Amino acid sequence: MPQPTPALRYWLSQMDAVTWLRSLPDASVDLVVTDPPYESLEKHRAVGTTTRLKHSKSSSNDWFTVFPNARFEELFREVFRVMRKNTHFYLFCDQETAFVAKPIAEQAGFRFWKPLIWHKVALGMGYHYRSTYEFILFFEKGKRKLNDLGIADVISEKRIHKGYPTEKPVRVNRVLIEQSTAPGELVIDPFMGTASAGQAALELGRSFWGNDISDKALAIAEERLAALAAETGAERVSKAPLEQPAFEWGR
Ligand SMILES: C[S@@+](CC[C@H](N)C(=O)[O-])C[C@H]1O[C@@H](n2cnc3c(N)ncnc32)[C@H](O)[C@@H]1O
Repeated sequence: MPQPTPALRYWLSQMDAVTWLRSLPDASVDLVVTDPPYESLEKHRAVGTTTRLKHSKSSSNDWFTVFPNARFEELFREVFRVMRKNTHFYLFCDQETAFVAKPIAEQAGFRFWKPLIWHKVALGMGYHYRSTYEFILFFEKGKRKLNDLGIADVISEKRIHKGYPTEKPVRVNRVLIEQSTAPGELVIDPFMGTASAGQAALELGRSFWGNDISDKALAIAEERLAALAAETGAERVSKAPLEQPAFEWGR
């Protein structure tokens, strides 16, 4: 018997990522894709190797506050708790943060599979070998098969020119979401920035809950997803739209 199509919804929130995750019920999420402002970004910025992150007239972007490595333990504990059984978690980071984050995520209960590579195609900044890639750490809770076993572990896509600091291309998010969710499932991003993951989720017919601490990120995300809502039929809700009757939600 055909199942009814689940309603496509998105919910945006503005608070500290861990506080936000703590407000969500256990096992309520099908995929977490996130890109925290990890500590080592601040170091790259301080020595000027990531000029795109500085405030400049051309970008009009101010840098955001970093999320200290010392908070990864509470972050991953909450991410693990809110994920349903048999789901995936993708964490964007650089190689320095990967070494720190991997054992902490494993301690929280995740199985680490491998780093995927986002290949940015053009040369970036750097004093040594010039930077052209970023890691996306691929973790699993329980056991879930990827939707397509023929997809490569290197995703090539150009960086966003003059975007929000460290904005990720929608297509990179699309690959992850398409691989690890079914239509109608729920994707979340506790550090959503411009909601590039949110755009990919809604375009693919997945619901999205996003959070960011910054006014600017919220404004960009609101505008971006509102523009998509008409096209995709997604509905904006003002509280977590959970099916569990114990969790109250409204509009
Ligand atoms: C690397 S950016 C995310 C960019 C995003 N992937 C995109 O494509 O636009 C990290 C985001 O985390 C936010 N942030 C910093 N500290 C936070 C915290 N404690 N809780 C939630 N968000 C935070 C920043 O405002 C920033 O927008």
